[in-house]
Order: sequence, then structure tokens, then C-alpha cells
Amino acid sequence: MCGIVGYIGGQTAAPIVLEGLGKLEYRGYDSAGVAVLAAGGLKVAKQAGRVRDLEAALPKRFAGKLGIGHTRWATHGAATDVNAHPHLDAEGRVAVVHNGIIDNAGTLREKLTADGVELVSETDTEVLSHLVARSEAETLEGKVLAALSQIEGTFGLAVLHADFPDRIVVARNGSPLIIGVGEHEMYVASDLAALVRYTRQVVHLDDGELATITANGFTTFTDTHERTHKQATTVDVVAEDYDAGGHEHFMRKEILEQPQAAERTLRGRLDERFGTAHLGGLNLDPRDARSIRRVKILGCGSAYYVGQLGASLIEDLSRLPADAEPASEFRYRNPVIEPDTLYVAVSQSGETADTLLAVQEITRKGGRVVGLVNVVGSSIARACDGGIYLHAGPEVAVASTKALTTMSLGFALLALHLGRVRDLSIADGRRIIEGLRRLPDQIAEILEQDEALAEIAHRLAASESLFFVGRVRGFPVAREGAQKFKEISYRHAEAYPTSELKHGPLALISAEVPTVAIVPHDELTDRNIGALHEISARKGPLVVVGHADVDLGELSATRIDVPRNVPELDPILLTIPLQLLAYHAALTLGHDVDKPRNLAKSVTVE
Ligand code: G6P
Repeated sequence: MCGIVGYIGGQTAAPIVLEGLGKLEYRGYDSAGVAVLAAGGLKVAKQAGRVRDLEAALPKRFAGKLGIGHTRWATHGAATDVNAHPHLDAEGRVAVVHNGIIDNAGTLREKLTADGVELVSETDTEVLSHLVARSEAETLEGKVLAALSQIEGTFGLAVLHADFPDRIVVARNGSPLIIGVGEHEMYVASDLAALVRYTRQVVHLDDGELATITANGFTTFTDTHERTHKQATTVDVVAEDYDAGGHEHFMRKEILEQPQAAERTLRGRLDERFGTAHLGGLNLDPRDARSIRRVKILGCGSAYYVGQLGASLIEDLSRLPADAEPASEFRYRNPVIEPDTLYVAVSQSGETADTLLAVQEITRKGGRVVGLVNVVGSSIARACDGGIYLHAGPEVAVASTKALTTMSLGFALLALHLGRVRDLSIADGRRIIEGLRRLPDQIAEILEQDEALAEIAHRLAASESLFFVGRVRGFPVAREGAQKFKEISYRHAEAYPTSELKHGPLALISAEVPTVAIVPHDELTDRNIGALHEISARKGPLVVVGHADVDLGELSATRIDVPRNVPELDPILLTIPLQLLAYHAALTLGHDVDKPRNLAKSVTVE
């Protein structure tokens, strides 16, 4: 969703800010803008549409050695030029870019209007520029603090003021903000992607923290204007991680990177000797782990589906009751928070607002929550009591692939760890470890079926509507398969437990409605095949994703076989071909694979 970039130093700011905005495109946005400050005052360019259109439309004279920019995802007011950020005050001396939502913007707009201020946009952000401009504080820091004291809501923001041409003031509350440290130049961004081309030395602001950024450094302080002392840390991502690297799409690159991503997730965490997983970041000693009676997993979208897969892994290996719930629903049902439940928040970005708010609800009520998060230092990672970093590397395509695979590995590690402080035997622990070690190569083997999968996807793409079905461990696989397919192909794809077909959806089966069925070799294979006969009898075309030793008998079906692992880990492999089916279907239909319509990579509003 919305993105912020800022620069201050010896170079012309606009190209650097625009380059940074380009790197944030993947998050999803519908307008963009940039403001620079030079001797002549503030200059602003902003418009609905793409960053490259903004760049093309930039006036010739747009110099200035400090600047801020923004990509906006419309919430308050349509995606128009006027509503795009930066927003200015009445005299054009203050420019503000803002991520998040100001809850009391309506009241503040009324007050400002009553005071004779003319608001030009429909946004919540614009009030900030007026409030900063109208403050009588003497410093820019004082003015920003005065404005923020009137605000209720969430923000990551950056402010330029024509009277203070040596600084950018930034603030964070619930929406990420990162300072990048260079040599006599400094950067600011809401996402590492915009910074790593220039520096890997970064400072993450905390909620309730502000910073003054000048060309030569930064100072951080609290919302009561007390100094905080932050040290820059080095991030281990590089600019190339955000390049498609010769691939046609990020999604394709990220699908192909999965064997290496999986290896990184597992590295240093498997202990053959005791048949367990080492997860130091969990902050859970064996006694704590033993006292857990239940596990509740929270995530959104694909992270929720992988959470269901995680719940079945945890139940299987640790025999603790476990279930997953959409984080977006959780806090609105006034959930009972139990002291002996381990809550697990799962998120690629670590910034999904619904998941973050669920974590805050749990910690506020004294519950214990750990995170399975990919982005190091992200809001969810920091709000949790501990966790497992996934190390998938940056994921740019909206449709999550390598991050999801590493999430399921994260759950396998957690399940193994919990299992081994409970009743899982050392032999079983070693069996799982041996399975985990085989996974990266097996993923690579599946990826070799790319051409065959493209051909199947091509056929599936012709149907307006399709079903994905699976049972027990295979059901989350089917749900994720349907999610991926609908997200990027825009075809109606619905997931059902195979066992439920006869209780309703069978009415929809016809020659025009194909079914992708997850049929691993397990204790339910025969029952699964029975249900497939019911589909076949109604002329429903079948694609069976399973194992080569599943005997389909007379059934007419297109087969996709994946290598077998241990039954508990098989679902992880069964998910992989479904990614390629969705990818190739979207390509066939000519869609923007990496940036599907109406969706954002990181949904930072409720
Ligand atoms: C958005 C994306 C989904 C993603 C979900 C959770 O809705 O479009 O693809 O699964 O957010 O994202 P997270 O970063 O928390 O894993």
C-alpha cells in the first residue's frame, strides 16, 4: 500500500526519491507525488497513475537537495491528482507525506474550516500540513509535535518546511519508517526496498518516535520530546534482491528461488542428535513450552491458509489442539485470551494491519504471542514476544510463493520443537528432520515440471470457474491453490473439502467446471478417489495433484505428481505446482502477474 521515500544530501533529490518510489510500486498504489525544497521554496508534482508518468511529467526545473515522495493507495477520497501526496498548507510552505489513517480527520477538518482554512483535497492527511503550518512552535520538531498531539490514528510521515531547509522531520505510530544512513546524505523510507540501493545502514523508528534528519545525521526523540539513542544496524538484503534478475516476472523468480529460500529457513535449526529444532528467537524455555495447552494461529489471506497447514502440523507432531483464524476477524469477537495458549502471528511483510492489531489485542490482554515473519525488524516481529524469522529474502510479487513455503517450514520447525518437549519420540523427530532436509531438492524437482504445468494451466484458464478440493492436510493446500489462482487469473476458484462436495457444490459440477483435486498417498486416498468418481460421473474435468503411486484406476484425469516426503510434510510439496498453475493461467489470460488488480502486497490499513 502507501509508500514514503525521502532524501537529504548533496545530490538533486527528485531522481533519488523517484527511483525509491519505483521500488515501492510492488506494494500497490494508484497515485504518486514528490516535493523538493530549494532556495525558491517548495516545489510539488503529484498525479494519479504510475511513478513513471509522474517522472515524465516532472517540470524541467525541479532541483532541490532535499525531497520527499509518496505512492498512495486511496482510502480517504478517490485516486485523483489533488488527493495524491504530498499535501501542502495554504501558503505552500509545508509539505507532508503520510501512511496510515487519521481517525479524527473529520473533526479536525471541521475545526480548520471554521478557522477559515480552505482544504483542497478529500484526504485525512491534508489536515496535518495545516496543523504544522499553524503551530506557533519555533522549531520544525515543535510544530510537528504540536500537530501530532491533535491527531488520533496511525501514521508514518515525513515533513518538509520552507523555513527549515536543512531538515526533514519524520514520525512513526503504527506505520513503518526507516532511516537510511549514507555519507553526508541521509534517506528515509517506509520500506527497505527503497533504501538498499543506497545504503544498508538503517535505523527503524519505534512507535511514538520521531526523528530529525539532516544531511549529516539524525536525532531521534519521543513524542514528549525526549532524546532516544538509536544505533544504525546493517541489513542483510542487497539491491539485487529487489530486481527481477532477468526473469519475466518477480513471481516467477520467487517461485524458482524456493529451494534456496527453504534451505535458509532450515539452516542451523535442525538438531539430529536430539531430533528437534533449535529456535532461539522463540524465547520459550522448555518449561514454558511444556505449559502450553493450545495453539492459536493468526494471519490474513495466504498467511491464514498456511496457518491452517501449520495447525495440522502442530496437532500431528505435538498433539496440542491447534487452529488458525483470520487475524482480521479475531479481535472483533472479543476473544478469550488464555494464559496457556501459544498465539502465533504469521506474516510475510510483518506489516499487515489486521495481524498487527490482533497481536496488540493479545499482548494487551497478557497473552503470549510469537511471530513467523519474513521481514526482519517489521512491526509484527517487534510486537511479538519472540519468533522465527523465515529468511525467504525479499518478496516483491503480490502473490506470495517463497514466503509461504518458508512459513510452512517455520511451522514444521515449531511443531517439531513443541513435539519434542512433549510426546514426540526422538525417532519421529529424526524422521521429520530427515524429511525437512530432503525438501529443498524435492521442491527443485517439482519446478522442473514447469512446461507440463504451463500446458495444464493453459487449459484451466479457459474455464470461468473451477474448484480446488482436498481433505484434512490437503484442504489448506486446496484453499491456498484456489486463492493463488483467483488472485492473479481473476477466475472464480473455490476451495472445498473433498468430503463436502456431495453436500452442495456437486450441483455446480459440469464439463465447463474443472476440479483440481489434492490426492496424496495417505490413509484417505481411497475415499478421495471415490469422491473424484462422483465428479467424473458428472463430466467434470479433473486435475489430480498427488503422488505417482496413487492408483487412479479407471478415472480419467490429468495428473500432476510430486515426490513423496513424510506424510506430515507432503502438503508443503503439494502446494508448489499450484503456484505454477496460477502463474501460467494468469500469463495465458494476459494479466499483470506481479501486480494483480485491486490487491496490495502489504495491507497496512484495516
Ligand atoms: C495481502 C496480500 C496477500 C497476503 C496478505 C497477508 O492481502 O494480497 O497475498 O497473503 O496480505 O500478508 P502478510 O504480509 O501478512 O503475509
